[in-house]
Amino acid sequence: MGPPGVGKGTQAILLRERLGVPHVSTGDILRASMQAGASLGKQVRGFVEGGQLVPDDLMGDLIAERLQRSDARGGFILDGFPRTVGQVRTLDEVLARAGMPLDHVLMLVAPEEEIIRRLSGRRTCPQCGAVYHLESRRPESAGICDACGVALAQRPDDAEEVIRKRLGIYRAQTMAAGQVYRERGVLREVDGVGDVQQVAARLRSGLGMA
Ligand code: AP5
Repeated sequence: MGPPGVGKGTQAILLRERLGVPHVSTGDILRASMQAGASLGKQVRGFVEGGQLVPDDLMGDLIAERLQRSDARGGFILDGFPRTVGQVRTLDEVLARAGMPLDHVLMLVAPEEEIIRRLSGRRTCPQCGAVYHLESRRPESAGICDACGVALAQRPDDAEEVIRKRLGIYRAQTMAAGQVYRERGVLREVDGVGDVQQVAARLRSGLGMA
């Protein structure tokens, strides 16, 4: 969990490599479905590009279907789900049906000015989804994906006014979802300020890994 742009996706990819379990990013699933022109993509485009949350019923169906797949049987890293109190309940139900425990809930935190700096400098590859930053994670050739060789793009929801809307929704809804886990005693806040490797070390320590 954590506010937009705090580094959830960057860190989840590193953890996936360490743990050997899939990284389930609801944002990535929604964007892939928009790019494919799928029916879900058509339903969600306005929400995603405008920085609003996709309704809980759609998200509940999406996550239940994703976590049923065979690659998730040995565990998974959720990135960007749950974001509302309703989604916390949905995840409880999905995990109970699968007989799987929720091992850890980690919340990355960083000041808003750092988040705005990270999001306004983010560039992504429209083909493979690789994430770069104009200052902290530059591609080898400016503006070009190292892996695919295609031009990098800025996400429509990384425009400054949309970032502010996403931060407002985070404060209003996702912090309440985090509070549910805090009251259950399972939430750990992790400082997201510092370079990528410093934050990764803090997360591993929060997970009890060396
Ligand atoms: P989603 O894609 O999940 O967006 P988000 O949560 O707003 O998070 P971001 O992807 O913007 O940021 P991040 O924390 O992953 O940061 P990143 O690692 O990229 O969701 C998009 C939309 O989909 C939502 O707004 C909503 O509409 C919908 N949606 C998704 N899930 C939903 C749900 N559950 N319910 C309803 N709707 C949902 O890093 C950001 C930048 O910073 C990068 O450039 C990176 O290189 C850089 N960076 C990372 N770490 C560091 C560091 N330590 N130091 C310096 N730079 C860093």
